[in-house]
Amino acid sequence: MEPPLDLLLFLIPIYIANSSPVVLGGGAPLDLGMRLSDGQRVLGDGKTIRGFIGGTLAGTVAGGVVAAFHLLPFFPDQTTQFIAGFVLAFGTLFGDSVGSFIKRRAGVASGMPFILDTIAFLIVALLMIGPIANARLYDIGNLAFFAVLTLVLHPMMNMLANKAGLKKVPW
Ligand code: CTP
Ligand code: MG
Repeated sequence: MEPPLDLLLFLIPIYIANSSPVVLGGGAPLDLGMRLSDGQRVLGDGKTIRGFIGGTLAGTVAGGVVAAFHLLPFFPDQTTQFIAGFVLAFGTLFGDSVGSFIKRRAGVASGMPFILDTIAFLIVALLMIGPIANARLYDIGNLAFFAVLTLVLHPMMNMLANKAGLKKVPW
């Protein structure tokens, strides 16, 4: 697959995993309501168990569809591509929660905008996939493409989700 199409295919499990919890989430919070000694919630009500599992599953399925066509780049064979779909999806939700953890420690309320919202999930997914990915993934041009596209697309998707009535706030 020609660049940058291959890079877009790589992002599919990450973007599906990151966006689907708005629809699939709800119910019990991942932190079960627990607070740390700073008095703030560990993660807050914006991170739910259903959102975490649903997002991971949705991203894994999306990655699986790409892998079924042998089209997930940066992995040596199809089996690794299927595994990568899961790792990328899980890494995305994990990174999203890490972002919220840091946000709460900084005293920023759930749902308020914060720079990590836009990029933490991507950084953690890229770090977690390292052990099974081709080192070419980390070429500076690829990283720049991922970062710029995500910094542009993420706010746009949030605005659309807000207009569609899926999200309370436009960020
Ligand atoms: N969501 C969820 N479970 C997750 C992630 C997201 O249920 N693990 C749902 C929640 O309904 C959340 C919405 O998707 O409100 C938007 O996600 P996000 O913007 O990441 O969460 P915020 O509500 O902004 O919370 P935070 O400040 O912790 O990022
Ligand atoms: Mg938010």
